[in-house]
Amino acid sequence: MQISKSVLLAALAATPSLVSAMFPIHIKNYRFIKPSSATNSESDNEIFFVKGVDYQPGGSSGYDAGSDTDILSDPEICARDAYAFQQLGVNTVRIYSLNPDLNHDKCMTIFNDAGIYAILDVNSGNYGESLNRADPSGTYDSLYLSRVFKFIDAFKDYPNMLGFFSGNEVINDQSDYAKIDPPYIRAVQRDMKQYIAKHANRSIPVGYSAADNTDLRLATFKYLQCNSLDGNKVNDNLDISRSDFFGLNTYEWCSGISDWQSSGYDKLNSTFEDAVIPLIFSEYGCNTKTPRTFDEVSEGLYGGLKGVFSGGLVYEYTEEANNFGLVKVDDSGSLTYKDDFANLESQLQNISLPATKESELSSDSIYKCDSSDIAKIYSGFGTNNFTLPSQPAEIANMINYGVNGTNTGKILTDYAVPTTFNYTVKNNKGDTVSATIFYDKANALNKLDATTTAVANAVSTSQSSSHSVNSSSSASSSVGSSTSSSSKSKGAANVVNVPIDQSGYLALFAGLISALL
Ligand SMILES: *[C@@H]1O[C@H](CO)[C@@H](O)[C@H](O)[C@H]1NC(C)=O
Ligand SMILES: *[C@@H]1O[C@H](CO)[C@@H](O)[C@H](O)[C@H]1NC(C)=O
Ligand SMILES: *[C@@H]1O[C@H](CO)[C@@H](O)[C@H](O)[C@H]1NC(C)=O
Ligand SMILES: *[C@@H]1O[C@H](CO)[C@@H](O)[C@H](O)[C@H]1NC(C)=O
Ligand SMILES: *[C@@H]1O[C@H](CO)[C@@H](O)[C@H](O)[C@H]1NC(C)=O
Ligand SMILES: *[C@@H]1O[C@H](CO)[C@@H](O)[C@H](O)[C@H]1NC(C)=O
Ligand SMILES: *[C@@H]1O[C@H](CO)[C@@H](O)[C@H](O)[C@H]1NC(C)=O
Repeated sequence: MQISKSVLLAALAATPSLVSAMFPIHIKNYRFIKPSSATNSESDNEIFFVKGVDYQPGGSSGYDAGSDTDILSDPEICARDAYAFQQLGVNTVRIYSLNPDLNHDKCMTIFNDAGIYAILDVNSGNYGESLNRADPSGTYDSLYLSRVFKFIDAFKDYPNMLGFFSGNEVINDQSDYAKIDPPYIRAVQRDMKQYIAKHANRSIPVGYSAADNTDLRLATFKYLQCNSLDGNKVNDNLDISRSDFFGLNTYEWCSGISDWQSSGYDKLNSTFEDAVIPLIFSEYGCNTKTPRTFDEVSEGLYGGLKGVFSGGLVYEYTEEANNFGLVKVDDSGSLTYKDDFANLESQLQNISLPATKESELSSDSIYKCDSSDIAKIYSGFGTNNFTLPSQPAEIANMINYGVNGTNTGKILTDYAVPTTFNYTVKNNKGDTVSATIFYDKANALNKLDATTTAVANAVSTSQSSSHSVNSSSSASSSVGSSTSSSSKSKGAANVVNVPIDQSGYLALFAGLISALL
């Protein structure tokens, strides 16, 4: 999708009035960028910091694929929590498991209008809804990817979709997982990014959320951010499968106990300084000492680390059995803030972030793929020399034609977002709070869809301005016959000819690695 920027800007200039919307975030080099107006001008746009919480009411086992509800299906609850997010001062939530068949329009509209972005994991722990880290070749298949693609369809049209996580802690230090799983993470990212390029109106970032292990996380990061074999020239197959951003789950700084050095934040600041994609903490907030005072917010993540990291997400919003909550929810659905909530709120008020303009950033985002460098950091890391599992024909077919998703979410323009709700909110002193949600008009999507779409396209163009992948190759770069290792088809037409009904194709593909490079 290489549309010249000047063409788009000309198209924008021709539209009569500017859109007032929650502008989609895009990426330049190692920063997220929030457009400052519909003209999406690099000299006005500023870098964006994630100030977020992990939003997982019910805990990690709270997701039920058979249920007709999920975390974003009840607008009354979403309104309640949007209020609390605003009080806390967060701008982003991460959600681990959602059902792509449900309607999320009201909740996503409430969040949009309240100024909240979403980072969503496309997986769940259920069979067929994630890679099995013990058996990646046996679970990288069309059953799994069809669900991922349906998930993308369900969320791609919300402007407040900040990014998708392709996986969470799939690569870890148990068993041989760091050896067998990395190429499959890249394969899933390739498929997701090709699907988005083909079916979404903008280039929604795809990232990965890594486990908290010092050597492994650095190896994982170098593996997932690289996009060049020689360090000079972008390789299309590596670029389409790289992570657009990288999340680190880290509990190194325990508030009231650790400091910059003893937490290891000093090492994070130096070992990740060559990042060319945005870095965030996808989980943080050690709870060894409670209540948490969150010193790592002002002194660490948004202090010493702010030149390298772009903020993060505190684990986690609701209190569950593991005692990481910021709020308690009682059986009637009423909220009580914990001391942790008040402490995090004042920490977030005490940060000052750089107002760097997009135009000040280099558009260079090349990083060398170096197997031996990665092996030196973590000897058991399986880069497979950056060769990826080939893309099964059935997956290529879904990318090309879509998954016939009937559930494509959209922001509602005719929905009166609720300013109040019928749950009680109490602060950490036990006082009832008079809760009214504040909707900044600047977040409300107006009706000029054509303008919005043009903005979205301009965003995707500028994101990939330095090394964009042409649409013909991006949608089909690794499509080919199951048995040939050099069957990179470069034309979309080739995809049409791939037979899709080969029986037993799964057996053919399982474990089959074909050279893409
Ligand atoms: C505010 O942040 C600074 C670090 O930037 C820290 O030294 C100071 O203690 C913080 N103040 C409060 C009240 O947390
Ligand atoms: C962290 O790294 C940045 C960029 O490399 C550097 O400018 C900054 O001084 C470092 N912060 C600390 C506290 O060492
Ligand atoms: C993979 O890379 C290593 C160096 O990291 C090299 O020794 C080995 O020959 C390569 N294997 C293949 C199949 O290219
Ligand atoms: C979607 O529908 C088209 C046309 O009816 C069909 O050819 C294609 O196989 C369908 N795709 C899926 C994934 O069901
Ligand atoms: C809250 O209001 C909704 C309608 O907005 C209603 O369906 C729900 O039953 C109410 N809940 C309580 C606890 O009153
Ligand atoms: C995205 O593009 C499709 C096809 O051009 C269009 O039907 C749809 O309305 C667009 N969605 C948004 C949110 O602009
Ligand atoms: C994209 O296409 C243009 C024009 O066809 C070509 O000049 C350019 O090299 C291509 N870029 C890539 C990355 O393939």
